[in-house]
Amino acid sequence: MSAVGLPLWLLAELTYRCPLQCPYCSNPLEYAQIKHELSTEQWCNVFEQARAMGAAQLGFSGGEPLVRQDLDVLIEHAHQLGFYTNLITSGIGLTEDKIARFKHAGLDHIQISFQASDPVVNDALAGSKHAFQHKLEMAKLVKKYDYSMVLNFVIHRHNIEQIAEMIELSIALGADSVELAVCQFYGWAKLNRQGLLPTQDQLRLAEEITQQYRDKLQQENSACKLIFVVPDYYETRPKPCMDGWGKVFLTIAPDGMALPCHAARQLPIQFPYVQKQTLQQIWYQSTGFNYFRGDAWMPEPCQSCDEKEKDYGGCRCQAFMLTGKAENTDPVCSKSVHHEVILEAQQQAENQITIEQLTARNSRNSKSFISVINVQ
Ligand code: FES
Repeated sequence: MSAVGLPLWLLAELTYRCPLQCPYCSNPLEYAQIKHELSTEQWCNVFEQARAMGAAQLGFSGGEPLVRQDLDVLIEHAHQLGFYTNLITSGIGLTEDKIARFKHAGLDHIQISFQASDPVVNDALAGSKHAFQHKLEMAKLVKKYDYSMVLNFVIHRHNIEQIAEMIELSIALGADSVELAVCQFYGWAKLNRQGLLPTQDQLRLAEEITQQYRDKLQQENSACKLIFVVPDYYETRPKPCMDGWGKVFLTIAPDGMALPCHAARQLPIQFPYVQKQTLQQIWYQSTGFNYFRGDAWMPEPCQSCDEKEKDYGGCRCQAFMLTGKAENTDPVCSKSVHHEVILEAQQQAENQITIEQLTARNSRNSKSFISVINVQ
């Protein structure tokens, strides 16, 4: 037990409900079959247990966490327990009254996601006509109430060429930091990958522009930080996903399923529920959380690789999605026998696919995946 780290980072996925329809959402494709959500008391109990185990950061996420009517109660409870709290939101459903109430409840930090810097592209991707305008207004109010604010842009083929405009917009809105995160291909993003993965040239240019802005901000003594997250599809070594399986991150899904990462629900592994076991039991003793701890599970070439301490063989969810087996080496690694699937994906990034051709994340489409899964 002593070799196992503490669950320092707790992600509370309060709900899978969301008013938007982003085609790169990381929620499970079949989310519509999960109807049950933990109650206010159950969430508060999870926070108490996690804090007692050493958790320090708490992210409220979803779906869209603002659809939970008890959000201010949850924030207040988490704050009283001593968590550093972060609301991860699309901004849809936010109002000045809520921003003020959350401040009063002790919320530390708000992250608002934008789909693009262009209102038309933003609203087409979000599947909502007035989303962009509302986000703008809410971002201004978040600063008015003196929160620490991150603006998040999910970057893909349809908006990557407007990276300068996204940075300009973020600076104008007074963002403390800007996350320019190229799509990570899980959930709906994996489904739509052929229409989302940027080309290598697009990526190179976007990184160069970001660096130019970093230099400019430094010269101006601006505190605004630009974070550019690259997709591992253009790497030859995998990322040390979640800083290692069951090491730091603990995700609780809306229905109480405890997961080592937000995407693990799809794996053929049984994960525990907070309604049935304590977080102590879940973190230290459950099969799911111990499954990929250490390196005994690693096959070759990971097992004898001198980089295994650095990347832990990469991402288990990606290995499962791309090779059918979660134990396999992440195919991003050039040593993987499956690396060609990554090279194929790079070639597909040249395909012409419009925003309208992407599959929107909504209940109707999600239900179609449930029937496919049930028939199989
Ligand atoms: Fe699950 Fe990487 S997202 S291990």
